[in-house]
Amino acid sequence: MRRGLKDYLAEMLEPWELSLLYRSYDVVGDIAVIRVPPALKHRKKDIAEAVVQTNKHVKTVLCQSSPVQGDLRLRELEWVAGERKTETIHKEWGCVFKVDLARCYFSPRLSYERMRIASQVKPYETVTNMFAGVGCFSIVIAKHAKPAKVYSIDINPVAVRYARENVCLNKVGHIVEIIEGDSKTVIVKQQQNTVDRVLMPLPEKAYEYLEYALAALKPDGGAIHYYDFVHAGKDENPVDKIRRKVAGRLKELGADFDLTFGRIVRTVGPRWFQIVVDIRVYTKR
Ligand SMILES: C[S@@+](CC[C@H](N)C(=O)[O-])C[C@H]1O[C@@H](n2cnc3c(N)ncnc32)[C@H](O)[C@@H]1O
Repeated sequence: MRRGLKDYLAEMLEPWELSLLYRSYDVVGDIAVIRVPPALKHRKKDIAEAVVQTNKHVKTVLCQSSPVQGDLRLRELEWVAGERKTETIHKEWGCVFKVDLARCYFSPRLSYERMRIASQVKPYETVTNMFAGVGCFSIVIAKHAKPAKVYSIDINPVAVRYARENVCLNKVGHIVEIIEGDSKTVIVKQQQNTVDRVLMPLPEKAYEYLEYALAALKPDGGAIHYYDFVHAGKDENPVDKIRRKVAGRLKELGADFDLTFGRIVRTVGPRWFQIVVDIRVYTKR
């Protein structure tokens, strides 16, 4: 029987070192992405070898050495153990996603969220995904709902190349159209008043781009899935904070709307949260 990571490392690391270990790591396809606290840098190789030994799906271990950053939401990844590669194929909800983790954003932690959104899509809807990466939300929707069309927009040419390949791998080319560009420009030029549902899975830009999500919706409205980050003190409700923020902006933009749902997607730091709010728009100015 395979042992857990901490049990395995207990024989090599000092108790103080063990106490500093991060409790979890992401696995994307056959690549594990670990984070190692600065005080354990000298143990990076041991930790990576332990991940390979205790997880039979892992062929490569990369260490994340910077936060996810920049417009393209990339992070620095250093090879530590196993095969030297950054490209893999991840399986989720019966879909396959090919991705180069060093050149595209991908998070397996959004898996629940992808199916949660897909389950709301009604037959024959037109959907636009403003920050689509390698196409994960778009493809899960195309596979599990019956939309007429899903537009999958991203500004990163590498992510767009993988998204095109993923559309072929998942045989959804008749539904998903990949578009390279700034979603603001794409909507203004091609999609105003044409779609039923807009996804905004880029917390850093969703607030700034909310007016374009609204512009994309048909004149009688539709749905927007809005993502944001928020810091909330002990006595504050992080979801309510984002509900107030987004409601204020929608009022300024002249929309008639309801906020139908909100939840914490994940905790990203001490009292820092990623939030999703689902918006039902009835009319626009
Ligand atoms: C957090 S990732 C989301 C990826 C995807 N939704 C997923 O589940 O994997 C945000 C994506 O937005 C893209 N992006 C950033 N600014 C953009 C813009 N102005 N227009 C379109 N895409 C943009 C980035 O390249 C990145 O792939």
